[in-house]
Amino acid sequence: MKQDEINKRRTFGIISHPDAGKTTLTEKLLLFGGAIQTAGAVKSNKIKNTATSDFMEIEKQRGISVATSVMGFEYNGYKINILDTPGHKDFAEDTYRTLTAVDSVILVIDCVKGVEEQTRKLMEVCRMRHTPVIIFINKMDREGQDPLSLLENVEQELNIHIRPLSWPIGIGNKFKGVFNLFEKKLQLFSPNVTKIAKDVFAINDINDIEFDRQVGDSVAKKFREEVELIDEIFEPFDLDLYTEGYLAPLFFGSAINNFGVKELLDTFVRIAPSPLPRITNLREVSPLEKDFTGFIFKIHANLDPNHRDRIAFCRVVSGKFERNKFYYHTRLNKKLRFSSPVGFMANEKSILEEALPGDVVGLYDTGNFKIGDTLSENESIFFKGIPSFSPEIFKELVNKNPLKTKQLEKGIRQLSDEGMAQLFIREMGNTKIIGTVGELQFEVIQFRLLHEYGASCTFTPLNYTKACWLTSTNKQVLEKFITQKPQYITFDKDGRPVFMAESDWFLNTIRQTVPEIEFHFTSEFKTDQQQINNMETWAKK
Ligand code: G4P
Repeated sequence: MKQDEINKRRTFGIISHPDAGKTTLTEKLLLFGGAIQTAGAVKSNKIKNTATSDFMEIEKQRGISVATSVMGFEYNGYKINILDTPGHKDFAEDTYRTLTAVDSVILVIDCVKGVEEQTRKLMEVCRMRHTPVIIFINKMDREGQDPLSLLENVEQELNIHIRPLSWPIGIGNKFKGVFNLFEKKLQLFSPNVTKIAKDVFAINDINDIEFDRQVGDSVAKKFREEVELIDEIFEPFDLDLYTEGYLAPLFFGSAINNFGVKELLDTFVRIAPSPLPRITNLREVSPLEKDFTGFIFKIHANLDPNHRDRIAFCRVVSGKFERNKFYYHTRLNKKLRFSSPVGFMANEKSILEEALPGDVVGLYDTGNFKIGDTLSENESIFFKGIPSFSPEIFKELVNKNPLKTKQLEKGIRQLSDEGMAQLFIREMGNTKIIGTVGELQFEVIQFRLLHEYGASCTFTPLNYTKACWLTSTNKQVLEKFITQKPQYITFDKDGRPVFMAESDWFLNTIRQTVPEIEFHFTSEFKTDQQQINNMETWAKK
């Protein structure tokens, strides 16, 4: 019974370059799933201007209904969880972390613009993690590129094999609907922006003469030729290659008009993976295991001053999460109990009694959690694979009010636990260095430190371009290097040494002088030493 329920779960993320149609598609999926009745219910998390005020406004609204971070709904007996990802590139790291909590993704591409910068970066992250990807080519109601040349563009730019599973009937103002190549079904819709059209024309045979009558002779002829060509060019769809992340099935549609969304959803529930196992420092954890395990992939602070709380988002990996039961927080080495965990259905949240693998549980947090933390029934394990990447912009944090030093310290640590930015301490001068991927984060940090912690600060730009985590099997060599280069050495918030480089050239020169030291561009959030310490304490109990 439980295995059945797990097999029916689909936990995934929708990702795209801003403006390709992620929010619209999310909303249409909820509409098809019956979770909402009319479009317009899902709040866009898009920052239209780069102004901080815009971000703050969105965050305030989202803080009040954090439910939009996870949207659950049922469709044809499947339980679907969509995990929302920020649209703005400055918050890309948040997106990367959310991707650790999904089992597959739908990547949306605008047919006019083709593959864009963020599309490429997101695809790289998926490839790194072997995440199964389905591609949705959106906005087919606009005069975009020819579908066949689009396929070429996508395959080359994203460096992944693709297999179309739906095919458009006409494009631009002649776009009439899509043919489901997977199920060999064809449905024609009349556009409807807010609701699902009822007057659907459906046939199973594309040679049916009625089809020509509906779409016109020239569109029907071109369409048949293309479908024939597709079957010649592309191998039949291979489920294993998709699940292993080597082959991306591709769909066409127009999210705003509801075209192609049902084809996508129907195929998605059939082929997308159910909750997958996850790797820990000690072993792989299967979703079918009896004992509960889960990890925190996101922490959401509420920016509304009337509801100041944090919610930690926990992805259930195995077993059953139950309300009011004690669970083991493996990093803190202590037991915690959650009396009001929340679950997410449609765009509402409610108290949840239990949750199964693939589900996301929101846990009210008073500062116990950091991103990457593991919860288990009683086993000291740590889920791997929540990396922090090297930031791209570095600035020194300058305290403007010495009377508020404590508040500033606490604030900046909490914000870095939330994953807002990375914090590095340079022992020389006890300098706090903040690393981010975008300028916008600095404004947000400054605003939040002032409004939530009463601490005012400014930032002085630093000319570092990369941070590399250092390890070596030769402890003495590493220690010597650290003492010899104090101006370039910082420690991350877990106390691990990090080398700050001013340029790639400089970094390469230094690396050659110390071959015994390894320079890492990404890290996991946990230190090995921390894990070992905890396990030792745990074993002694
Ligand atoms: P995002 O979350 O990926 O950033 O994109 P979003 O869904 O907000 O869509 C970006 C813009 O593209 C929106 O228009 C949206 O209405 C439009 N759009 C989405 N799907 C389609 C489609 O299938 N066809 C066409 N032609 N447009 C589509 P906007 O003017 O920026 O926003 P709004 O004022 O309509 O909200």
